[in-house]
Amino acid sequence: MARVAVVTGGTRGIGAAIAVALDKAGYHVAATYAGNDAAAFAFAESTGIRVYKFDVSDFDAVQAGIAKITAELGPVDVVVNNAGITRDGVLQRMTPQQWNDVIATNLTSCFNLCRTVIDGMRERGFGRIVNIGSINGQAGQYGQVNYAAAKSGIHGFTKALAQEGAAKGITVNAIAPGYIDTDMVRAVPPNVLEKIVARIPVGRLGKAEEIARGVLFLVGDDAGFITGSTLSINGGQHMY
Ligand SMILES: NC(=O)c1ccc[n+]([C@@H]2O[C@H](COP(=O)([O-])OP(=O)(O)OC[C@H]3O[C@@H](n4cnc5c(N)ncnc54)[C@H](OP(=O)(O)O)[C@@H]3O)[C@@H](O)[C@H]2O)c1
Repeated sequence: MARVAVVTGGTRGIGAAIAVALDKAGYHVAATYAGNDAAAFAFAESTGIRVYKFDVSDFDAVQAGIAKITAELGPVDVVVNNAGITRDGVLQRMTPQQWNDVIATNLTSCFNLCRTVIDGMRERGFGRIVNIGSINGQAGQYGQVNYAAAKSGIHGFTKALAQEGAAKGITVNAIAPGYIDTDMVRAVPPNVLEKIVARIPVGRLGKAEEIARGVLFLVGDDAGFITGSTLSINGGQHMY
């Protein structure tokens, strides 16, 4: 039986590449998104992957969304917590809303998704959870105390839940991407981006498909001995 995989933020950027890689590998994939219907419908049409709209920062919405996915595809075996946003600004100008939005979308979402699927995974004795962190959660980044705190939190969340799930066949790992060529990074001013690329030893931005390869590796049935780890995929920019 094909395994069912949920990829949050799976309709654009890194998440879309992850959803496509899982689909090609034979998983039944649900790609979720927040509000960009045009991008989601274009993605669904071009890939045939099912898309589901719900806000990952809202616990009740996540419960309803996962219930719908379960009814249509079956119980969830794999969760990739990929949805994320940035709301950058130096601390002295950061608003409580910028802080709360980033923590809720990037970190509380991991609780919301995992809390919703964990009972079923424990009962079935199998689960694969991959949380998408960031190089900026490992190294910090100017103008991103909210994002760095959320992503750093993901790494702690991953290690704690890995310990809780290990005896039940549930692995929990994180991937910490470096700078990947997606809409999120295209929003960075060109002169700043040039300086960032100059600091990447591989000499270029990463590709979304390069993160997807890591996810595919970690969610495999034969990856059961890998848990609580963080895989850095960053072109050598930060060696953790
Ligand atoms: N790009 C990079 O260089 C980089 C580096 C390190 C880490 N990351 C992390 O990798 C992940 C993906 O990044 P990306 O660059 O691919 O982002 P992206 O292109 O901006 O796509 C973000 C995706 O997340 C969804 N999303 C945002 N807020 C959501 C919410 N509240 N509920 C549900 N879905 C939501 C978006 O849905 P809509 O389409 O509806 O808006 C979209 O599908 C993020 O966690 C990011 O922090 C990215």
